[in-house]
Amino acid sequence: MIEFFAPAKLNLYLHVTGKREDGYHLLDSLFCFASIGDNIKVSRSNEISLEIEGAFSGELQDCSNNSIIKAANLLKEKYGVSSGAKIVLEKNLPIASGIGGGSADAAATLLALNELWELGLATQELEDIALKIGADVPACLYRDALQVAGIGEKITKLGAMPQCYVLLVNPLKAVSTPAVFKNRVGDFSKEMPLDKVPDNINDLIDVLSIRQNDLYEAALSLETEIADVIKMISDTKGCLLSRMSGSGATCFGLYQNIDDVERALEQIISKKPEWWVENGYFL
Ligand code: C5P
Repeated sequence: MIEFFAPAKLNLYLHVTGKREDGYHLLDSLFCFASIGDNIKVSRSNEISLEIEGAFSGELQDCSNNSIIKAANLLKEKYGVSSGAKIVLEKNLPIASGIGGGSADAAATLLALNELWELGLATQELEDIALKIGADVPACLYRDALQVAGIGEKITKLGAMPQCYVLLVNPLKAVSTPAVFKNRVGDFSKEMPLDKVPDNINDLIDVLSIRQNDLYEAALSLETEIADVIKMISDTKGCLLSRMSGSGATCFGLYQNIDDVERALEQIISKKPEWWVENGYFL
């Protein structure tokens, strides 16, 4: 049995810089990955099959369209693999939540099956198949901080994040990514890519504070509770920045001290027990 972690993906900033003729948007974004995520286990089998367990398994009923099955089939076809795989997903991340759950699951499936089927592919060689599954999937093959452009396929590795702690909060309201992109109005933003990640949290906050998430207003108009999430995070002691990730509704808070992030977690859980709240660090 081979196991791969499928970490939550965070967009520390996300600029929409243009639109392609096929309707996909061009992005400029700093991606990083958290210690909070799903888990993929694969083992030998004749057929490709998927079982889903974990806190959010109930919300993923239609497996036929699942990004995991798509990843397995695409890899099998491209490399003429004759065997199948029993795949088990532990679904810990909320669905349609802006932290790449489905993309991370597909990417971890490609990484795990590359080992199970002994294909010996370098991670970069999985990027083409990953992009066929979704725009964020190629980036989710990695664990480093990434500068991402194009629709998600232009990836520059920036190395490790500075040490800091992250709080993730989702009001458990699913937000549709296509609907958010469709709802976006206004001019396109400038590309402001980083060539390295600042090596301390204060410098990171400085570079993030002159960038933003361009999908925030569009997501907020679909799900007004996102504003309450941001406010509740930013009101906690020691929070250096709070922002929505991706197309929402998950928002994150960044903290320098572990005590502050743990206290923030407890406070928000006690005020909003119906929300999803987790703390962790960057990989
Ligand atoms: O590629 P993925 O399935 O994650 O994208 C879902 C939808 O989000 C796309 O069909 C498109 O409407 C929108 N999208 C976009 N530009 C991107 C990524 C996604 O317009 N870069």
